[in-house]
Amino acid sequence: MEKRELLYEGKAKKLWLTDDENILIAEFKDDLTAFNAEKKGSEQGKGALNCKISTELFALLEKNGVKTHLIETLDDNNQLVKKVDIIAIEVVVRNTATGSLSKRLGVEDGKVLPFTLVEFYLKDDDLNDPIICENHCMLLELVDDRDKLDILKQKGLQINRLLKEFFEERRLNLVDFKVEFGIDSEGEIILSDEISPDSCRFWDMDSGEKLDKDRFRQNLGNVKVAYEEVLKRILGDKS
Ligand code: TMP
Ligand code: ASP
Repeated sequence: MEKRELLYEGKAKKLWLTDDENILIAEFKDDLTAFNAEKKGSEQGKGALNCKISTELFALLEKNGVKTHLIETLDDNNQLVKKVDIIAIEVVVRNTATGSLSKRLGVEDGKVLPFTLVEFYLKDDDLNDPIICENHCMLLELVDDRDKLDILKQKGLQINRLLKEFFEERRLNLVDFKVEFGIDSEGEIILSDEISPDSCRFWDMDSGEKLDKDRFRQNLGNVKVAYEEVLKRILGDKS
């Protein structure tokens, strides 16, 4: 299947129309941004790494009963995906405090949370993706029915259970992550976007080293090396 017109260009991906109205091509870019694109960079090969990592993780989730938009990975940077209506809520799941949770609420960086925290953020760059509560979601009509918020939360927790265990076996602590969902042509809520070191935090369980986009956000260097390490751990014997 071939790319037709560009439907949308985001910070890390381009979405292309195809000759099937229900199918898009998602192209993973090498661009890196942080702090709502105040900080910009690029790392050659980053797009391909995220495409591969996200392919592997979506396949793992599908195998365990989580429906996703991924149909097939076409090549290094491109995936064939189901076209969905994206729900404008970024679902953030946290196991360990860091990032905006520590900054906003003063929870000690690195503290293991007593329970898995699920938060909703409004997907709106102009407003800087603010944190929102369930009533805000209803007020802004981000979903048509409150039960859908519960589904988002349950799916976030299910993804967390599966990925946390998977990464623990590979000596990586899944600190937190962000996922996005969409509604497919059958009206079902399915996992969309990507899961990669751009959208997750991974800390090495032995050295404590950060192996995710915080290396770019915090100018720690070796961004690509870190992403390569995550892929290597995911592939394990397959690599
Ligand atoms: P935060 O601590 O900055 O709120 O980030 C929580 C998680 O969400 C972290 O794994 C990084 C991810 N994330 C994104 O994927 N996109 C974003 O725009 C932001 C702010 C965070
Ligand atoms: N995704 C946001 C950006 O690209 C923020 C972040 O990930 O830190 O600017």
